[in-house]
Amino acid sequence: MKRMILISALLCASLAAMAHVRVTTPETEMVLKADAGSELKVLYYGARLSDADVAGLEAAGAAWVDAYPAYGFHCAGEASIGVTHADGNMSTVLKVDTVSQSHEDGAQITRIRLKDTVYPFYVTVCYKAYQDVDMIETWTEIENLGKKAVTLTRFDSGHLPVRVGDVWISHLHGTWAAEGRLTQEQLERGMMVIKNKDGARNAHTDHSEVMFSLDGKPQENAGRVIGAALCYSGNYELRIDTRDTDYHEFFAGINPDNSAYILESKEVFKTPELAFTYSDEGLSGASRNFHRWGRKYKLAHGDKERKILLNSWEGVYFDINEPGMDQMMADIAYMGGELFVMDDGWFGEKYPRLTDNSSLGDWKVDRNKLPNGIGWLVEQADKHGIRFGIWIEPEMTNSVSELYEEHPEWIIKAPEREPVLGRGGTQLVLDLGNPEVQDFVFKIVDDLMTENPKIDYIKWDANMPISNHGSQYLPKNKQSHLYIEYHRGFAKVCDRIRAKYPDVTIQACASGGGRANWGVLPWFDEFWVSDNTDALQRIHMQWGTSYFFPAIAMASHISATPNHTVFRTTSLKYRIDVAMSGRLGMEIQPRNMTQEERDLCRKAIAEYKEIRPVVQFGDIYRLVSPYDGHNMASLMYVAPEKNQAVFYWWKTETFYDDHLPRVRMAGLDPDKMYKVTELNRIDNVPLKYEGMSFSGKFLMENGLEIPLKHIVDYHKQDDWSSRVLYLSAQ
Ligand code: GLA
Repeated sequence: MKRMILISALLCASLAAMAHVRVTTPETEMVLKADAGSELKVLYYGARLSDADVAGLEAAGAAWVDAYPAYGFHCAGEASIGVTHADGNMSTVLKVDTVSQSHEDGAQITRIRLKDTVYPFYVTVCYKAYQDVDMIETWTEIENLGKKAVTLTRFDSGHLPVRVGDVWISHLHGTWAAEGRLTQEQLERGMMVIKNKDGARNAHTDHSEVMFSLDGKPQENAGRVIGAALCYSGNYELRIDTRDTDYHEFFAGINPDNSAYILESKEVFKTPELAFTYSDEGLSGASRNFHRWGRKYKLAHGDKERKILLNSWEGVYFDINEPGMDQMMADIAYMGGELFVMDDGWFGEKYPRLTDNSSLGDWKVDRNKLPNGIGWLVEQADKHGIRFGIWIEPEMTNSVSELYEEHPEWIIKAPEREPVLGRGGTQLVLDLGNPEVQDFVFKIVDDLMTENPKIDYIKWDANMPISNHGSQYLPKNKQSHLYIEYHRGFAKVCDRIRAKYPDVTIQACASGGGRANWGVLPWFDEFWVSDNTDALQRIHMQWGTSYFFPAIAMASHISATPNHTVFRTTSLKYRIDVAMSGRLGMEIQPRNMTQEERDLCRKAIAEYKEIRPVVQFGDIYRLVSPYDGHNMASLMYVAPEKNQAVFYWWKTETFYDDHLPRVRMAGLDPDKMYKVTELNRIDNVPLKYEGMSFSGKFLMENGLEIPLKHIVDYHKQDDWSSRVLYLSAQ
């Protein structure tokens, strides 16, 4: 009798072990419990486990929460999915049907099909675990095999329990000209919601990425961190629900508000990917995972160096003309740049685009401004030895435009109502859910590229939210599909453009940083971080943005002073040193610069070319946060081989008798000797340690003293101070 009990206990244990589904990356794993006929449970997410520890997980105490809770049965908690079935039943009960694991394109794919216990309604919970970067993407495929349509009232991408403790969340908040501001707070009981309802641009205010620091107050280079990014270009909702259990429950997905989705018979609804990472090397460690994954698998051309460019916007605004464009091209070529981008103001025949109140949609060159068309500009760029890029805002029109006169039915607006007007008092959003509009938007790019195959770069802007709910294309019973269909249309157009023009560089701009999101970047090479180019505020914005996005994707431009947004006057050296920590460019009228300033930029561009691979492909280590009140900020990039690094140091406030912390470096090889060279030097005398070599160990344990100010002639002194040090292993 005793023996039988032992045997059956062993059998149970092995069955239980078999039913563990392990979703693994090199250093991390998620463990699920997927017993056929039971609910799918998530037990664990963290560092990679041994077989023995997986077997002991449940005994040790594991999360044991539904991986994809459905609404209507045990209703008290938050649900990942809500369904009104064809007969009006609002409850769904999902049980494991089948489990499969395979390897595709170097990733481990896990698919767990759940079936409703009564209806022919299925949800496949999918996990893609990368095998060379610690990132797991999850999404679901919701399938209605019933004869009649059902209505989805919620459709998250995923759900993850985070053990209650001293858990802090880091997330990004902002507004126009102040994007990517870091907010860090301790998670308490109750519900926290981070969401966007802009319709078109989803990263302007709050971001759909978060990090959870599991070991108390967030630290950059220590502690366990879970990072999450919802990869979707449209409205989203992230919820962290902390009730009477031991877990903060994190939910993320498309925002279901005003978006109930009618799922027809046989239709499959695929939710966007939700990417998770785990690191025990602090916030910067999680960022490095996001950056590696992003560069390799998400960002367009993440393995190619970006060109150094001049954009015309802050230099001339709408005042586009041939001699002006030619002069700017000559100037950026002189300074060593590689690309010129003509921004807004070049188009409109019947209604020339003189300011922001007309012409979007009329993508015909304004011959009064540019008599020889785009072709001449491209040729001139060739002559200057640089490439040419152009601005468009293809999803939009104005009430003052030929397009709107011809196609008033293409705009988003509610029936029986006048449309809400946006920028310039006339802007309108085109209904991208309409296939005719999709064709039109594709053709804007196609025509430009066919007529001017040498166009190297497109700045794709979107400067208005969806401000009125109503599609003139969708049927009456599917008006609630407006937002979802808009982004499906956006994806279709982007797919077509990339299929035909795989090599062109495309920047995602949306009134600044409104499209800094991993759901957009697979088609785009970079994003404009913000319309605010003030160096000091950029340190803060770029710091936050770097939590989730790599420097190669962050367009960062040297601009004029007083700054056009905040009217602050900073030194050119400071502006250069900040712009050089991202994808360097310029946004200025070079004609207004002195020869000395032009030469400083020329030198900086030459030096950036040397460090470009380290900045654009290196690993980030954030060292001192501008948000921590130390009157300074510092970060560095280290090449993967650890043979080169670039260290940035910016003073953010100036007080007499101030004593700033000495910054310890990170990420270096302790045993290597690194030679220190200052870049962009303006001082009359070199730093004391210029040209000297120090061990990685010394630099990481002690760092180098950075002088508080620059040693320059008296009339050149100001209150800005910054340093860029290049470290090369000897
Ligand atoms: C938006 C962009 C700017 C510029 C203008 C042009 O505001 O963010 O960079 O392109 O539009 O109108």
